[in-house]
Amino acid sequence: MLDFRPEQSAIWAQLQNAVADTPSITALFTQEPNRVSELTFEAAGLRIDLSKNKVAQGQIKLLLEFTALSPLANHRSAMLAGQPINTSENRAVLHPALRDFGDISSLTSAYRDTVYQQRAQMLTAAEQIRSGKWLGHTGKVITDIVNIGIGGSDLGPKLVYEALREFRHNTLTVHFISNVDGAEIYSLLKTLNPETTLVAIASKTFTTQETLLNAKTALSWLREGLRIKQVESSPHVIALTASASNAVSYGVAAERVLPFEEWVGGRYSLWSSIGFGIACAVGAQAFTELLQGAHALDKHFAEAPLDQNIPVLMALIGIWNINFLKYSTQAVIPYCERLGLLSAYLQQLDMESNGKSTLRDNTKAGTATGPIVWGQTGTNGQHAFFQLMHQGTHTIPVEFIGALQDTLSDNTHHRTLLVNMIAQASALMSGKPAPDSQAYRDYPGDKPSTMILMEQLTPSTLGALIALYEHKVFVQGSLWGINSFDQWGVELGKKLTNELLPREADLSGFDESTQALMGLVNTRL
Ligand code: F6P
Repeated sequence: MLDFRPEQSAIWAQLQNAVADTPSITALFTQEPNRVSELTFEAAGLRIDLSKNKVAQGQIKLLLEFTALSPLANHRSAMLAGQPINTSENRAVLHPALRDFGDISSLTSAYRDTVYQQRAQMLTAAEQIRSGKWLGHTGKVITDIVNIGIGGSDLGPKLVYEALREFRHNTLTVHFISNVDGAEIYSLLKTLNPETTLVAIASKTFTTQETLLNAKTALSWLREGLRIKQVESSPHVIALTASASNAVSYGVAAERVLPFEEWVGGRYSLWSSIGFGIACAVGAQAFTELLQGAHALDKHFAEAPLDQNIPVLMALIGIWNINFLKYSTQAVIPYCERLGLLSAYLQQLDMESNGKSTLRDNTKAGTATGPIVWGQTGTNGQHAFFQLMHQGTHTIPVEFIGALQDTLSDNTHHRTLLVNMIAQASALMSGKPAPDSQAYRDYPGDKPSTMILMEQLTPSTLGALIALYEHKVFVQGSLWGINSFDQWGVELGKKLTNELLPREADLSGFDESTQALMGLVNTRL
């Protein structure tokens, strides 16, 4: 039985009682002499310092007791065993199987052959592109890939492509088109040559409106530029999908459909053939290292005791912040410009997974659930919204992320970057009282943060970082009693768009504001 209502656990009430006694973070450092070493954990090349959170170690123990009495451990086993834990869609959730290297005993091996075969097929296609063996209709090598996809079929590959800039050892460029905003795709296509362009239609379902419209525009451009009628089945079009039959019905040649399985959630799909653009850019070895990094974190998540398990501990601190300290947002601030897309990626991962108020047992949640996730890179954010973080009326927990070394930078820049990060975390926590009659200079401090460090940003550490967040989100969903793997909340807006799109749409069932706005749009388009 995986259903769970956290507030019905006896320990939940104890945690509620305990929160009022929470000392300031600086006081915690005095009360707990070994706080830094006791709250710093390492796994899969990541070092996580939790000590600057506003939680006493006794309170963490209580959170762990609460977890031990929850179905989390069974839930994790059920996920890894391939049980259909996505109950509203009756699907297994097996993204760890996409980076399975055969040494996690609790992870089902049922799909290993399929995964290895699909991965090999995708890496072979990518290698053909990279080596110049994949020729276009007029015999030219491919120089540009346009990845057309949205949500999980865009954010993950785009994040990794940008983050691993250093590992892109060829002249191939991957472009990402997601928004149905035509200005994007038309502007891009103007810069490309159809003879040397491959359009990768990335869609788990192969039914997504934005992706199909963008694909239609790109394929018309290819058709005109190449003067071929059946452009869908030409070597300029490839499909990355879990719905091979839809892609083939669309006209994509069966051998150019790179499949993955239904049990890969859209926002967990960068490890599958959806990662084709990444593999084209960085090659099979770096792509494999990305998977290995994620796998190392999977192994840690599957096997480390709960009190040493970093996704579990990060999730518990998040729950403490959200449910007990009532901090409802979570900022993620990488001090690395190449991780500039991380917060956008995490917004989907976290908010589409845990932004829910109905529990797995179909009852309404009795507690707050997923946080509002946001952020951007430091030091840029320091000159924008950090003012509010230091002196505003909201308390915003921060996850700082940094790499100790950066081969693309130099010591002066990199030291300055890292010292800024450390100084901000210190200032947020320690604060500083205002001088007399200058209250505007008061820094109240006591603002919590977590520091995630890696030696260097590599495919492996990036894989581990992303997997860390995947599992953190899983743990939180499990402890809130949520099914983190569906996304029914996005359906109504899609349905209404489809109802409003036809020019002859009957607007009478819509409110007056919507009617007026549609009236305006109908006069223009
Ligand atoms: O609308 C939300 C969503 O279903 C996401 O979960 C998904 O990543 C995205 O749309 C794109 O879906 P698809 O890959 O099927 O085109």
